[in-house]
Amino acid sequence: MSERLTINYEKKPCYDIVFSASFEDLTDELATLEIERRRICVLTDTHVSGLYGGEIVRLLEGKCVKSVLYSFPSGEENKTLDTVRDIYRFLIDEKFDRRDLLIALGGGVVGDVTGYVAATYLRGIDFVQIPTTLLAQADSSIGGKTGVDFDGYKNMVGAFYMPKLVYMNISTLKTLDDRQFFSGFAEVMKHGLIKDGRFYEWLLENMYEICDRQVETLLEMVMRSCNIKKLVVEKDPTEKGERALLNFGHTIGHAIEKSRNFAMTHGECVALGCVAAAFISWKHEWLSMEEYYEIRDMFVPFNLPISLEDMDPDEILALTKSDKKMAGGTIKFILLKKVGKALIDLNVTDEDILGALREILYVEDAE
Ligand code: GLY
Repeated sequence: MSERLTINYEKKPCYDIVFSASFEDLTDELATLEIERRRICVLTDTHVSGLYGGEIVRLLEGKCVKSVLYSFPSGEENKTLDTVRDIYRFLIDEKFDRRDLLIALGGGVVGDVTGYVAATYLRGIDFVQIPTTLLAQADSSIGGKTGVDFDGYKNMVGAFYMPKLVYMNISTLKTLDDRQFFSGFAEVMKHGLIKDGRFYEWLLENMYEICDRQVETLLEMVMRSCNIKKLVVEKDPTEKGERALLNFGHTIGHAIEKSRNFAMTHGECVALGCVAAAFISWKHEWLSMEEYYEIRDMFVPFNLPISLEDMDPDEILALTKSDKKMAGGTIKFILLKKVGKALIDLNVTDEDILGALREILYVEDAE
């Protein structure tokens, strides 16, 4: 049994997100894209290829003109124009044209790279997202952001390009290693904090079921998370305004990610960024002290950090200011007006940021 959510673009239905506990409805869903007339290239990484690549290619057998699998090495360090170039070469060698179809099978990196290839190969070719990580299911596969990192800057080169379908098999979350699972959870928490206080409460109440990865609970969690993202991206698909709220925790998060040379997961850095942003919100007297500490401590059972050793606040501040989310030299900082309601603040000072960084700096207790 699958559930679905339709994402509208410019007030018209654009693509469906299908939520399922298996891949059994995948080919029926793809049939609506007339795949019997198309070649399909399944793009994935070397890790996910071993888990699901064979299964997806088998499911496609006899259903399309031809299906091929292309894997590139896994990891954020491969989210580059070099990987994109290798994929263009493969598609040219396999004679893919604009009527054919790409499938992104994997996590956020696979989705972002494949989406960018789809947006640019022959000026645009259809693509489908099959996200297999929590980060990709709850966040990055929805809303049409595609792109690659460039010279250490995250998502510096990219395009908005909508998929034709997003198919989520929630059972894939069972095979994720703990670190990747909890990394995705940071984005789920973020959605509750910025837009839906009741969802945030629900996450607190269902902590054990989520950590046990009970499929029914995960299904509800991912669907509610996607619904929040749907409401945001439908109103502001190309981040002219409200979509920036989704960057809560990301301004400082990205700076930490860069300072650690991507050795920490995205979600670990976002969790630290969320704690820092919640701290500034408390200092602005928008959150109470109790709310701040509850938000901070809520990350702990999900194995996400709330403090960091060996961090130089001045270095992180400088990196924060070099992030692309600046509006004419001012940082577009996302803060919480209350739990479940975020806003864009252009007046956060260096001192506010340094104060928050000192708060998340781990200092060993002196005996
Ligand atoms: N992950 C933030 C966005 O899609 O805008």
